[in-house]
Amino acid sequence: MVFNSSQGKFNWKIEKCTGEDKSRMQELLERTMYIDEPLTSTLDDVSKGLYKNETAILDILDQGHSFKAITPEGRIVGAAINLACPFSYETYEPFQEVVDFLAHVSRETKLNSHGLLDLYNLGVDPDFRRQGMAKALAQATLDHAQRTGFTGLKVCATSHYTTAVCRSIGLQVIYTLAYEDYRSKDGRPVFTPPPPHTHLQVLLKRFSEESISKM
Ligand SMILES: CC(C)(COP(=O)(O)OP(=O)(O)OC[C@H]1O[C@@H](n2cnc3c(N)ncnc32)[C@H](O)[C@@H]1OP(=O)(O)O)[C@@H](O)C(=O)NCCC(=O)NCCS
Repeated sequence: MVFNSSQGKFNWKIEKCTGEDKSRMQELLERTMYIDEPLTSTLDDVSKGLYKNETAILDILDQGHSFKAITPEGRIVGAAINLACPFSYETYEPFQEVVDFLAHVSRETKLNSHGLLDLYNLGVDPDFRRQGMAKALAQATLDHAQRTGFTGLKVCATSHYTTAVCRSIGLQVIYTLAYEDYRSKDGRPVFTPPPPHTHLQVLLKRFSEESISKM
């Protein structure tokens, strides 16, 4: 699926990712996810450095379920990095407190994820935000999941904005956790992202048998 936008200040389109996008994707992650994604934004510089050396997330592109937003010059300015469930957070997250947190959320959500596609990582270049790019990437992901036989789409939204994006394309919140309520043994909140990112939400859309076969 290709979606062209000239509604914003910049021109961009959505395309499927390939394994050849890895180095340009790494540059985007360093301009977005490793700076202001709510969980990583709370880490110190040493811990953030662990993410910058992490390449496992780029291997997700080889699965063929991810999408990028690119400019006419070929610059990647947004991405939805998607992977088939089930998977282990340990494979993709270098920081143990993040692994523990996301594993806790998975357990508490009590969801059988077999057959679902997970929108694992949604990021937009700061210069291209508020143009509907994240929504277009999420919609492309949803259409792809339905077309290729997944039974639904799941998103673990650490950002308030991702929750808004996913709700706008029909996902429903199935689990909520206030960051304030996830505490270490000494009683302190482990993650304290800036407002409005006060809660993590898990969102889901299941496809009916009928809608999968119609695509
Ligand atoms: C979250 C993120 C991907 C959103 O990208 P985006 O392209 O700006 O989002 P969209 O333009 O598609 O916005 C869709 C909706 O999200 C909400 N939203 C997004 N950014 C917002 C902001 N800065 N303030 C308020 N609402 C916002 C709005 O409801 C918006 O709809 P509207 O513009 O019609 O009001 C982007 O802010 C980002 O990359 N953040 C850093 C990485 C991150 O946190 N990723 C998500 C991890 S779960």
